[in-house]
Amino acid sequence: MSTVIKGARPYGEGDPVDVLIEDGVITGIGTVQAPEDAEVIDARGQVLLPGFVDLHTHLREPGREDTETIDSGSAAAALGGYTAVFAMANTDPVADNAVIVEHVWRRGQEVGLVDVHPVGAVTVGLKGEKLAELGTMANSQAGVKVFSDDGLCVADPLLMRRALEYSTALDVVIAQHAEEPRLTVGAQAHEGERAARLGYTGWPAAAEESIVARDCLLALHANARLHVCHVSTSGTADVLRWAKDRGTKVSAEVTPHHLLLTDERLATYDPVNKVNPPLRTESDAEKLRAALADGTIDCVATDHAPHAVQDKDTEWSAARPGMLGLQTALSIVTETMVRTGLLDWRGVARVMSERPAEIGNLADQGRPIAVGEPANLALVDPDAEWTVRGAELASIAANTPYEGMRLPGVVTATLLRGRITARDGKIG
Ligand code: DOR
Ligand code: ZN
Ligand code: ZN
Repeated sequence: MSTVIKGARPYGEGDPVDVLIEDGVITGIGTVQAPEDAEVIDARGQVLLPGFVDLHTHLREPGREDTETIDSGSAAAALGGYTAVFAMANTDPVADNAVIVEHVWRRGQEVGLVDVHPVGAVTVGLKGEKLAELGTMANSQAGVKVFSDDGLCVADPLLMRRALEYSTALDVVIAQHAEEPRLTVGAQAHEGERAARLGYTGWPAAAEESIVARDCLLALHANARLHVCHVSTSGTADVLRWAKDRGTKVSAEVTPHHLLLTDERLATYDPVNKVNPPLRTESDAEKLRAALADGTIDCVATDHAPHAVQDKDTEWSAARPGMLGLQTALSIVTETMVRTGLLDWRGVARVMSERPAEIGNLADQGRPIAVGEPANLALVDPDAEWTVRGAELASIAANTPYEGMRLPGVVTATLLRGRITARDGKIG
């Protein structure tokens, strides 16, 4: 089985070249001799990137298959240019044991559109009381590489310390949803002028920054790897800069929505804009974009969070936090980072593929586009635009904050180990 991508520009650089793929591996770049029966993708000068890797996806299987399944979420991922996603543990039942993580891994392989790597819970039932059996999950068939109680913070410093200490022996990473719960009781929106005016209880920046500072110190002393989920404030970027300068093994992600959207959206009262951590100020968004560009924040992760209509389309305080992200991530990064000149396509490859693959310890993802490398690839038309329609996205849920927006950057093909998983907006 072979495929040839004709006239693509790897990393958006240089003259168009042909890329030959045989048995899942790149076997030729330049002017290639393709077998007659090879499948042809005419790239017409489009940008070829390593397939994207999402460190932070909520698929709702098991438990809320009315909002997303491994099947529907995998389709959304493939259409978004992803070849691997990490599925968060806050399912029902929680992914805190080998049975659940092996189910998620196996189901992902059966669907076959994207590698679905289950994230294991740090604590039993996400209760923050007792460590889950990290070793059993790491050594299971699912080979869990990332552990997180995401949705909730591992708030107890002693538990967090123990988790970090164990993680070193297993060579895994602890991903923290940084939110000091005592500081966010009843919080509904970013603590600031806009929330105050609307009468919403505020979610202060310090609730995030204080946990990130604490965890960086714990990680440094344990010589452990810490990953900070969805950085939302400029102060967190400052803490990360400081911690990295001191040699802390800390990495961090920012979501597309925190790069583009701000708490100005509160004025709409539309809970589609409710997310945790909340949308912050324009100044925060600007500093997050700069921190992503300079490497203080390592990568983009979607925090793709599907929710049912009845859980979103309700009064603000009752609505669940979270928004879809897999199919719009590349476009938002194009808008906020590429069109602004903050990142070139090489930089996009770094933040959407290479760094997340390194952080998640995936040997076959985020690899160079070169002969002998696995053909995990995303082809992007940088000049095309599209209009987002929640109902047309592959997710079962439709809670996109970008409804009706015209966005630049279209994923025209995705290949997983040489197999076409998405093409021209359709699966396979
Ligand atoms: O907005 C969010 N949604 N933040 C989280 O931490 C959890 C997530 C979800 O599971 O819906
Ligand atoms: Zn979270
Ligand atoms: Zn999340």
